[in-house]
Amino acid sequence: MRKILISGASRGIGKAIALKLLKEGHSLSLGVREREDLVNTLLDPKTNNSEKFLVHTYDANDQDSSKKWVEKTVETFKNIDTVIHCAGIFKRTNLLFNDNEMKDIEDLWKVNVMGPWILTKYAWKYLSLSNSARIIMLVSMSGKRSKGNLASYSMSKFALMSLCQTMRNEGWEKGIRVTAICPGWVNTDMAKEVNHFPKKDMIQSNDIANICSNLLDLPNSSVPFEIALNCQLETNI
Ligand SMILES: NC(=O)c1ccc[n+]([C@@H]2O[C@H](COP(=O)([O-])OP(=O)(O)OC[C@H]3O[C@@H](n4cnc5c(N)ncnc54)[C@H](OP(=O)(O)O)[C@@H]3O)[C@@H](O)[C@H]2O)c1
Repeated sequence: MRKILISGASRGIGKAIALKLLKEGHSLSLGVREREDLVNTLLDPKTNNSEKFLVHTYDANDQDSSKKWVEKTVETFKNIDTVIHCAGIFKRTNLLFNDNEMKDIEDLWKVNVMGPWILTKYAWKYLSLSNSARIIMLVSMSGKRSKGNLASYSMSKFALMSLCQTMRNEGWEKGIRVTAICPGWVNTDMAKEVNHFPKKDMIQSNDIANICSNLLDLPNSSVPFEIALNCQLETNI
């Protein structure tokens, strides 16, 4: 059984992964901005299930919260062998953005790129000890191709993909394996304003949770670096 950090566990993909992996018996450390979001769920911080999971404050904009979250996890579970990065934001910023959209671009950079970078940096020492550690990163198809006019979101996800490649390079000899999951639309709050495509035909969070669960069963020799998930045909990638 693994000792797993999951960011963005309050909702969407992160929460679905947390529920699946909890059921499978892993020890989970969940990073959320608002602990209240998990009250009255199976991941309620108030339940007396401290051997199975802990819930800690994590804000990708606050470097110190990453450090404290990692420290508390190691204090509780003794080590960390897996990090699943699900915290992320989405903004529609065109190439010719307005002055008042500059903050959106900065936020995307901080949350989608620096957040996972800094969290991985603090967890690295522990991942390096395991000899079969895993990093799973929720990237996006927007990290593989730039579609339409999502300039800033795509920029952040391409940058994240490049970080994944560096993590793979630097972690390889230590047994750290990295997987970048690159979905198209997933039926979560993030896609709630997408109306041109039926929600039932989008990728569902539970399917990504199943993929993560399968990834954790694979040996170092067989972990895929990239998993592209298309819910619509894209012939150019
Ligand atoms: N949904 C899609 O169509 C889709 C497609 C491809 C890739 N992805 C990627 O998959 C990941 C998860 O997306 P999702 O669909 O599950 O989105 P979601 O339902 O909107 O959930 C986003 C999660 O990120 C957390 N988060 C946002 N800002 C944060 C911050 N500053 N610090 C810490 N946590 C923060 C949210 O926490 P709060 O509850 O506190 O806001 C929430 O738990 C993201 O990286 C996203 O880019 C999503």
